[in-house]
Amino acid sequence: MPEKTTAPAIAARKRRTGSEPIVMITAYDAPFARIVDEAGVDVILVGDSVADNVLGMESTLQVGVEEMRHHVAAVARARPRALVVADMPWMSYHLDPPDALRNAATLVRAGAEAVKLEGGRRRLGVVHALVNAEIPVMGHLGLTPQSLHAMGGLRVQARSAEAAHELELDAKALVDAGGFAVVLEGVPDAVAARVTAAVPVPTIGIGAGPGCDGQVLVLHDVLGLSRPPRPRFVRSFADLDTIAREAVAAYAAEVRSGGFPSDDEAYHASPELRDALAAEDDDR
Ligand code: KIV
Repeated sequence: MPEKTTAPAIAARKRRTGSEPIVMITAYDAPFARIVDEAGVDVILVGDSVADNVLGMESTLQVGVEEMRHHVAAVARARPRALVVADMPWMSYHLDPPDALRNAATLVRAGAEAVKLEGGRRRLGVVHALVNAEIPVMGHLGLTPQSLHAMGGLRVQARSAEAAHELELDAKALVDAGGFAVVLEGVPDAVAARVTAAVPVPTIGIGAGPGCDGQVLVLHDVLGLSRPPRPRFVRSFADLDTIAREAVAAYAAEVRSGGFPSDDEAYHASPELRDALAAEDDDR
């Protein structure tokens, strides 16, 4: 039986040490946590992207700690071998470190083995507090979806030399504060590769090119369950949307034509029960 993946084990997976790239994917419930775990991923992210992918919300800004706790608990019940990382939702770590600590503890008690939060040097107080409370922290820099309004939209970040330098300083500061890995989202490939070379912990890219120590994608994009148009960095490896729609349409057609359920799909009354029911009918 493969060993449970831990945050220190992920922290040790720098590619320059000869490790394979880290594979991270989102999951939000027990059946998909089991599927992605059996497929052999290293890290399951219970992302705040549950908001738009599962809960039908406009953006990640709509999801709160209680919804995240609910989905983290569902994923943890699958008892995955992969490391379970929970996203801290917007405003769960922006007030002060004690508030962030309480919210992170809620996610850890639900089954998270690490938390992820967005932002760099502005978040150092919170990162220190969580690490001091023995909670492993994954950073998230670049295109940070919780900064949707501040960024003026979901745009590629670090497109100038100055912004790339700032990104590198943020990544180094997160690592100095105790972060065990950093997600780099929506940044040019050369910038991601440079940050990857500059920090001693793994970087995990999404829309950041192949130069990171690992990659992450949203499960619903990988399975083709999200609706196009999708960003250019997304690759769908299946078309479950079509498969699911065709399966449900086939079920509906069989019910309507009388083909479902068949004789084999029904429980049959014993001869004694049939006789008793027939006798009751005769008495009516
Ligand atoms: O919530 C999420 O799915 C994420 C990934 C895109 C990194 O944060």
